[in-house]
Amino acid sequence: MSSKGSASDAQTSARRDLRVGVIGAGVMGSNHARVLAGLPDVTLVGIVDPLPEHRARATTMVGCRAFESLEELFDEGVDAITIAAPTHLHHEIALACITRNIHILVEKPVASTVEEGEDIVSAARSAGVTLMVGHVERFNPAVVAIKQAISGEDILSIGITRVGPFPPRMSNVGVVIDLAVHDIDLIRYFTESEIVEVQPQLSSAVAEREDIALLQFRTASGVLAHINTNWLTPFKARNVTVATRGKYVMGDLLTRQVTECFGFKPDGSYSMRHLPVGHDEPLRAELTAFLSAVRSGEAPAVSGDEGVASLAIAIRCLEQPPKPAANTARKGPRRIVG
Ligand SMILES: NC(=O)c1ccc[n+]([C@@H]2O[C@H](COP(=O)([O-])OP(=O)(O)OC[C@H]3O[C@@H](n4cnc5c(N)ncnc54)[C@H](O)[C@@H]3O)[C@@H](O)[C@H]2O)c1
Repeated sequence: MSSKGSASDAQTSARRDLRVGVIGAGVMGSNHARVLAGLPDVTLVGIVDPLPEHRARATTMVGCRAFESLEELFDEGVDAITIAAPTHLHHEIALACITRNIHILVEKPVASTVEEGEDIVSAARSAGVTLMVGHVERFNPAVVAIKQAISGEDILSIGITRVGPFPPRMSNVGVVIDLAVHDIDLIRYFTESEIVEVQPQLSSAVAEREDIALLQFRTASGVLAHINTNWLTPFKARNVTVATRGKYVMGDLLTRQVTECFGFKPDGSYSMRHLPVGHDEPLRAELTAFLSAVRSGEAPAVSGDEGVASLAIAIRCLEQPPKPAANTARKGPRRIVG
């Protein structure tokens, strides 16, 4: 295993259990640990968090060991680590793992800045370790069905809505980095093309950082796409529509219903059908894909370069400071400090 052996050990001994650790026992890290604990051919070595109460919660929830520091986990010997610590720590933790030839999955966004993201990518490449970025929506069965439905189609436009209430714990990022980065990745994934033009409209209606974003894009392949995201909607909604020359595909990423309209006739009539959608838990599919890349040494499903490309577009959207929303009273208890 990597902290006690070489990176290639993990790839050559495909049959033995992979020893995996998790960094960060918060919302995402606890979920990583829960899923890893149930995967075949995996030994969950433990979870790292500096906060005793978060370690205790993870130990109770998952039944795994918990460590206060990265070094304690490294000393146990691990082949792979998933990093679900706050984003501003991804760079430092990722480099510490890579130096020890440990394969890593880094939660989205890959880092706080493009430079840090690029640094992680180049360090992983030089060390020959697997680096995957946790763009988990790619593993949502509804996204898998949409991707399949538009395969070989001439895509014209994409619309994505990702809205909901304020998150219970406000981090130091706004909706673009927290939410829209998922959809920027989906637009790049669906179109298999890079975003070349960005037209963002941002507003901070209630929070210090942007809490409404209407983002328009054009890809190199000529697809027009938009993302509507905010933290001002009292319920969660995640919807995707894709218009191609031959089809109109509509997907609900929460209910996982995907429908396509096709067979357009000159009289305006068309046919409609619901598409079959799988039942996999997205995080389980994502972690399985990561560990499969670790075992095989093949390219992971979401590369570090892709994670950096999506982060770079999100950061471009933030280059204009958000404006206060019109007629918004920015005072009183609804004000949230980012
Ligand atoms: N893929 C997704 O859909 C998704 C969803 C939520 C969050 N995320 C990402 O996951 C990461 C964590 O987000 P979260 O919502 O779980 O945050 P969180 O605040 O719930 O958890 C972060 C945890 O990291 C711990 N931590 C702080 N410093 C640490 C250190 N030096 N070493 C180890 N642990 C440390 C904190 O104590 C906390 O328990 C972020 O990068 C976030 O963007 C991804």
